[in-house]
Amino acid sequence: MEKIIAPKGTKDIFHPDILQWRNLEERILGFFSSYGYREIRTPLFEHSELFSRSIGDETEVVQKEMYTFVDKGGRSLTLRPENTASVVRAAIENQLFNRLSPLRFLYIGPMFRYDKPQKGRYRQFHQFGVEIFGEDHPFLDAELIESAHRFLTTLGIRNTELLINSVGCPVCRPLYLDRLRQAAEGHRPDFCADCQRKIDKNPLRIFDCKVPGCRELARELPLLGEELCDECREHHEGVKSGLDSLGVSYREDPMLVRGLDYYQRTAFEIVGGHEGAQNALLGGGRYNGLIRELGGGDVSGIGFAAGMERLLLHMPGNEQREEKGIYIAYQSLEQMPETLKMARELREEGFTVLSEYGVKGLKKLMKRADRAAAAITLILGEEEIAAGRVTVKSMSDQKQSQIERKELLPWLRKQN
Ligand code: HAM
Repeated sequence: MEKIIAPKGTKDIFHPDILQWRNLEERILGFFSSYGYREIRTPLFEHSELFSRSIGDETEVVQKEMYTFVDKGGRSLTLRPENTASVVRAAIENQLFNRLSPLRFLYIGPMFRYDKPQKGRYRQFHQFGVEIFGEDHPFLDAELIESAHRFLTTLGIRNTELLINSVGCPVCRPLYLDRLRQAAEGHRPDFCADCQRKIDKNPLRIFDCKVPGCRELARELPLLGEELCDECREHHEGVKSGLDSLGVSYREDPMLVRGLDYYQRTAFEIVGGHEGAQNALLGGGRYNGLIRELGGGDVSGIGFAAGMERLLLHMPGNEQREEKGIYIAYQSLEQMPETLKMARELREEGFTVLSEYGVKGLKKLMKRADRAAAAITLILGEEEIAAGRVTVKSMSDQKQSQIERKELLPWLRKQN
């Protein structure tokens, strides 16, 4: 029979790699709690319309990458390709804007995109991200960007570059889009079929195209930076001055438009240079119009998300110390009831204990203790039990001795 394997672009995560995941998750929660973020968990699937309305119909994500299906009730649902839209939806639906303060959310979890799998790019991948609502000052943008940057440094990820841009607002962007459309129109036949459609529907998305010919042509197109309105320009200057005060270096990238339609003003990415891997470690920006677009009030928003697989790929070898356990072996099956009780007692005292039942022969059990990489093996035999003793064996030096049963707990505690 043919073996069933995991779907393309997905990965099983298990021991010992899972220790690095846990470590990363704990560091995320620890670091960002100092900014007042609180964790939020939203469903893994949402009504498809949530994403088409927020991310935008003409984006690569909505056009090509969504896992969309019709459920048995005839609803169109989509596995979340990102989480900003879901967090906004949850905040509006649960009226969190009136109930919580500060409105700072943090999430960790899987996202789904029908992307072409390669190193650092998967179809099920994990993001951690933060979202802040109702705070407008450009220094907040600077603080958020700095926190993302500093977090990568605490993980030991160096050689990164911070790219920033302003993608304008509903005042200045439409004027720019007209200019952009006109300029792109002049090269229409040279663009790929997708970009030709984007010229009519949403010309900003031409900058996301990965086709080399289109990327070349995009360099010739007018840039949004030249068309920013006074408020957007002032905001952008404010962000840069905040970053300067914090001593964060950045490069202005006028072609950084971030692939998702909801951004307004600040857009940023941190890229890293790991060979052969996808280099965007994290990205984010301001999305002041999104909450209104999804049926909430005039509340501003800003956030970022990082790809956790990519962080792990760029983190220097972080060996996790694994707590080694205690293995309980028995001379014969008669000592199994005593093993059962001792295992429970030691676990209640906080020890990690492995015991297996129905295994005949001490030799076999000792081999299993070795394979389980136990630090200590306790051996229960008929005579030891009768005399109120237990044999203890240190697996590192193979030294074996007998101790009083009542001395066992203090002895084990001393071994740590
Ligand atoms: P994004 O740039 O689409 O932004 O994704 C953020 C990060 O997720 C990327 O920089 C990358 O590290 C990771 N990522 C994206 N696709 C994949 C993939 N197929 N495999 C592995 N990692 C991937 C957003 O998702 C926005 N929601 C960020 C945001 C939050 N903006 C404001 N708030």
